[in-house]
Amino acid sequence: MQAILFFLVFVNSIFAYNILIYSPAFATSHMNFMAHLADALTEAGHNVTFLVPISDEKLRDRIKVQTKYLMNVEQDKIQKMNTALGMDEMMQSLWTFVDSPRKNRKQFKLFENQTIETCANLLRNTEVYEKLKNSGFDVAITEPLSICGLAYFKMLGIDKTIIATSCSMYDHIMQLIGEPDHPSYVPAMQSSSTDKMNLYERYLNYQHGNSFVETMQEVFDLEIKLFSKYGIANWHDFFSETSLNFVNSNPYIDFPRPIIQKTIAIGGISVNVEKIKSQKLSEEWNNILDKRSQNMLISFGSIAKSMDMPIEWRTNILKVIETFPNVTFIWKYESDELKWANDIENVVFSKWTPQTTLLGDKRVTAFLTHGGLGSTNELAYLGKPAIMIPIFADQMRNANMLERHNGAIKLSKFDLANFELVEKSINNILNDEKYSKNAEKLANLLSKQPMKPKETVIKYVEFVSEFGPFPTMDPYSRNMSKIQIYMLDIYFIMFSSYSILFSVVVFFVRFLYNNLNVIITFNKNKID
Ligand SMILES: *[C@@H]1O[C@H](CO)[C@@H](O)[C@H](O)[C@H]1NC(C)=O
Ligand SMILES: *[C@@H]1O[C@H](CO)[C@@H](O)[C@H](O)[C@H]1NC(C)=O
Repeated sequence: MQAILFFLVFVNSIFAYNILIYSPAFATSHMNFMAHLADALTEAGHNVTFLVPISDEKLRDRIKVQTKYLMNVEQDKIQKMNTALGMDEMMQSLWTFVDSPRKNRKQFKLFENQTIETCANLLRNTEVYEKLKNSGFDVAITEPLSICGLAYFKMLGIDKTIIATSCSMYDHIMQLIGEPDHPSYVPAMQSSSTDKMNLYERYLNYQHGNSFVETMQEVFDLEIKLFSKYGIANWHDFFSETSLNFVNSNPYIDFPRPIIQKTIAIGGISVNVEKIKSQKLSEEWNNILDKRSQNMLISFGSIAKSMDMPIEWRTNILKVIETFPNVTFIWKYESDELKWANDIENVVFSKWTPQTTLLGDKRVTAFLTHGGLGSTNELAYLGKPAIMIPIFADQMRNANMLERHNGAIKLSKFDLANFELVEKSINNILNDEKYSKNAEKLANLLSKQPMKPKETVIKYVEFVSEFGPFPTMDPYSRNMSKIQIYMLDIYFIMFSSYSILFSVVVFFVRFLYNNLNVIITFNKNKID
């Protein structure tokens, strides 16, 4: 018996890897995704250190991760001073922001500043560095929206690294790791097109992809300067040196696209269906749901706040709500200032909602959401029909992606001013069975997919810890120009040689024809 116990402990310690996850606190959705990776690995028995440079002070309390080793990198005076401005105004402006490649880029400036200041602060913190330097990490994971994590891993001497994208894809990563890039039918991360595009849409989609690539390159160029005194001067190979590229995409939900073998889809890792279904609602929520025969949840997430929505849109939604007296609407709303809402009976405003538990409850009929990828995946896995009203960033793409499965209706945020359209959409999503049937069908498929995202993460991270990195998996296309990759030079040469050949033939035929004429005329003359 003791021998068996000893054996078990021993086996466990052999397979437990030391894992570092770098996850700056700059947006809840990104942080949650990394925390779910961490939790999957912790549950599998690995020793996970979750390193969180605090980009946004307000997010410190939202970090939820199971590991014993949560290590915050607090802001020093310099970071506080240099990042004080602008975030709240930026978030308010998102509601009426008209999306375009150029404007997206401008909007990114604040993020750029925040990223660089966060990285500079991490480098000033020698205490954290000294602690991590001797921890003997087998593998390290970071999100590729910054090069800070990867450069820091180099300083710590960790050569087995993984990048994890909390969106379905990042345009710059596709290019930097040598993935085929086809803007003709693969919607860019911030594009509002589906995979079926007309000529102009293809042009816009190309611009969306390009402008994101340029923005990120600008951030990386600025960040890398912070590392020059540590002898790290060039970031261009950082991403291709990593062993894996996890993406928060599910092949059965996402738009199809060609990928390289290092790209592993783990979409759905953040949705723990069994856990959600086993959660119990409080009595207060139970009473709310029991009050009317149908319930609809309204939430626009945590970045663009409902309370900042233009008042005309808010009152319009309220007018629509009034026409459904038999439906309770639960609206995630951040303020107590509700005079504009005129005591309408069938709406419950709440600063916080148990969103996943509500979505897992049969009494909730549908969801009205901004379509953040977190909520989009929850909808897909829990099989709820939804109205999706994207506001910015990748939300357009998420809405288009889910709409293709016919369990969701997509509206533009500007449609929120349109009474007839909002009323019709809510009526359809609540009462047309087509939507709930299709949503359930997708959820059923996802519950039976051959590889579960959690298993995938654990197996691949263990594999990299043992065998990574994999330089032979780096596609040679990275050293080639687009002309070579797309064979444009070959097509040109082929086209030119055929053209020359054709011209020569035409020339000879004409020559012969002309001379034949001469000969015929000559002969005719002789006979005459
Ligand atoms: C787990 O990681 C921490 C670093 O955060 C380290 O101090 C500790 O020794 C590690 N534990 C084991 C068993 O390797
Ligand atoms: C609400 O439900 C009641 C009772 O079931 C029904 O008589 C009424 O027509 C319903 N109202 C609407 C607007 O559907």
